[in-house]
Amino acid sequence: MLRFYTAGESHGQALLAFISGLPAQLPVDMKFINHELRKIEKDTAEIFAGVRHGKTIGAPIALRIENRDWANWEKILPVGAAEEDPGTRKLVAPRPGHADLAGSQKFNYHDARYILERASARETAARVAAGAFAKLLLREFDTEIASHTIQVGHVRLEKPATWKKIQAVSADLDSPLRCIDAAVQEKMKAEVDAVLKAGDTVGGIFEIVAHHVPVGLGSHAQWDEKLGGVTGAGSFGSEVQDEIFYEKSERRFRRSTNRAGGLEGGITNGEDVVVRGYLKPISTLRQPLHTTDMVTKEPVKAAYERSDWCVVPAGAVAGEAMVALVLADAFLQKFGGDSLAEMRRNFDNYAQQIDAF
Ligand SMILES: Cc1cc2nc3c(=O)[nH]c(=O)nc-3n(C[C@H](O)[C@H](O)[C@H](O)COP(=O)(O)O)c2cc1C
Repeated sequence: MLRFYTAGESHGQALLAFISGLPAQLPVDMKFINHELRKIEKDTAEIFAGVRHGKTIGAPIALRIENRDWANWEKILPVGAAEEDPGTRKLVAPRPGHADLAGSQKFNYHDARYILERASARETAARVAAGAFAKLLLREFDTEIASHTIQVGHVRLEKPATWKKIQAVSADLDSPLRCIDAAVQEKMKAEVDAVLKAGDTVGGIFEIVAHHVPVGLGSHAQWDEKLGGVTGAGSFGSEVQDEIFYEKSERRFRRSTNRAGGLEGGITNGEDVVVRGYLKPISTLRQPLHTTDMVTKEPVKAAYERSDWCVVPAGAVAGEAMVALVLADAFLQKFGGDSLAEMRRNFDNYAQQIDAF
């Protein structure tokens, strides 16, 4: 079983990730891991355990990503007793949409700083690093994952995207919004510029595609073994299901469409696995919303601190990591072995069964 944990606060010393369950002898390409991290911010990961001579050893992996701003926060978020007034950077005006208020009530602080430091999506950098390990495993079996933006605010990409285009835009670190269509991307940029001007924020939709996924990951047999998808609840069956044909040139069963996103009955069907992420607009607004001071109970404007106003492309990178981790876990459940070689034998054996079907 593939398991991972992360730790670390947004402005703390570092983010940490622990990953266990990967087979031994998986080559660890640090360039690849750091390239994944650079898709969101300028971070690099350092490995502390579980890797020797550039390969996993079957032991838990520990990694660390330094927070570059720690020097400015060390006195505000010390692990030991506070030297400075503990009131520094206190946040008592909870931002609607964030964990600020419910988190403060739940953990019993009158200062949302204790909550927001961990609730911040900075944590996803650690998940991207863990996801990079999952991707390295999947790549050994030719399964690749990429993502692209299909909606920002009110602007939506209406045409279907091919795997090649998604892969290209996903790998392009200079692509501003990672949309496969230049004209639509311009409109998305205009939407982002408009909210920036207005001091507002905007959400959107991203799509993650896993390409070349074997038939038969996940299982219909128990609720917690199914890999899930969203069905078109408001449509007719004829508009939702994908008809089956046999593609002689590929010697495999295929679907004439892929509306199911590669999953039927909780099992991968050999088509691309497609997952969409719906991101609500960022909760920190430069033109703050009304809120209530947690201490005085008086109406105030919500707190503002430096924040992004559109994170759809970054959200997609975090989403890729999560899809990679889920699929890698499903791979390990189906083909699991203690070494990569053992896993490959299991995989090849199963591939023969599917070829002969
Ligand atoms: C990649 C990414 C970056 C984010 N950056 C910010 C940010 O800069 N400022 C902010 O207020 N929220 C940001 N968020 C959103 C919050 O993390 C999140 O929406 C908020 O904590 C509320 O949680 P919920 O979306 O689960 O309701 C970001 C989210 C993601 C996925």
